Amino acid sequence: MHILTIETTCDETAAAIVTENLEVISSVVASQADIHKRFSGVVPEIAARAHVERILPVLDETLKKTDISLSQIDAIAVANTPGLAGSLLVGLSAAKSLALAIGKPLIAINHLHAHIYACKIAAKAEIFPCVGFIVSGGHTNLYHCHSATQFEYLGGTIDDAAGEAFDKVAHMLGLAYPGGPEISKAAMTGNPQAFSFPRPYIHDRSTLNFSFSGLKTAVRYQLVGTGKQSFQDLKLSPEKRADVAASFQEAVLDCLVEKAFLALEKSSLSTLCLGGGVAANREFRRRLTERAEAGKVTLHIAPPELCTDNAVMGAIAFEHLRTQDFSPLDLDILPGLVRS
Ligand code: KG4
Ligand code: ZN
Repeated sequence: MHILTIETTCDETAAAIVTENLEVISSVVASQADIHKRFSGVVPEIAARAHVERILPVLDETLKKTDISLSQIDAIAVANTPGLAGSLLVGLSAAKSLALAIGKPLIAINHLHAHIYACKIAAKAEIFPCVGFIVSGGHTNLYHCHSATQFEYLGGTIDDAAGEAFDKVAHMLGLAYPGGPEISKAAMTGNPQAFSFPRPYIHDRSTLNFSFSGLKTAVRYQLVGTGKQSFQDLKLSPEKRADVAASFQEAVLDCLVEKAFLALEKSSLSTLCLGGGVAANREFRRRLTERAEAGKVTLHIAPPELCTDNAVMGAIAFEHLRTQDFSPLDLDILPGLVRS
């Protein structure tokens, strides 16, 4: 069986064809990073318009890369929650049109469930039940994942997402969007102890929450003080840039790693699955791997190309197909986060 999956929740226009054995037949991701670079972040209206321009070429290319024709597709799947409203609408409209045109079922998928499912696709093994940790540009959430589609919210950020903090601090340091990969590169030559940035909640075992907006402000004060100087006028030495990047990354990772293992402890689970763009961070992966080995925890982190947004993780649609969990053609988008 083959499912054609569509992903347009944020700023990647993606489509893939996957089989029930979680084999990837074809996958195309058109990133909009170049368009959003000059704004140092995603501009929702621009993202939606770019999806409109890209969705048909992306679908065409996805089909052209294989011998599979549309008539051999058994269902059309699309992420309809959570995400940017305009972006979600483009993917959903394309998916509905295709489903109607070929007379096959429409399957709605949850983008956060899909991020964790990427671990199962990569592991080619069962991963549930597990603690699912989604760390991306829009989310920093911990879940008790009872199954692929039953998530219980354990905690998350009360303000900025970790990826958002990476992007904003990268902007302060004069680094390009998306900031995560740039910071991680700059941090490689920096001293993670050079600056002591805040790590909210880290010693509070009663909560699995995070807060990154104060950390962002602390970096700002470190760079420009309380004055009005703009980041553009900063004459940062490469050494200071590297030290701030390394110290910032260390503070974020300290919080993420600590709470991930506290979540395992609190939920009495021994499997940790990590998804979302920030999961591509090499230092984050290294630290989790080290701690998992020491604590006899089974750790699954998807390969970097399945951490950032893609349509392959839409293979979670087979879990819905199995139970005939299809959606009607008047399915709507659900931009906001539904916690479980
Ligand atoms: O999952 P994703 O592609 O989109 C959302 O659903 O948000 O995540 C994008 C986020 C961006 O904030 C980006 O800076 C961050 O993931 N990111 C990273 C790395 N690669 C991407 N953050 C830290 N280190 C990385 N290597
Ligand atoms: Zn995502």
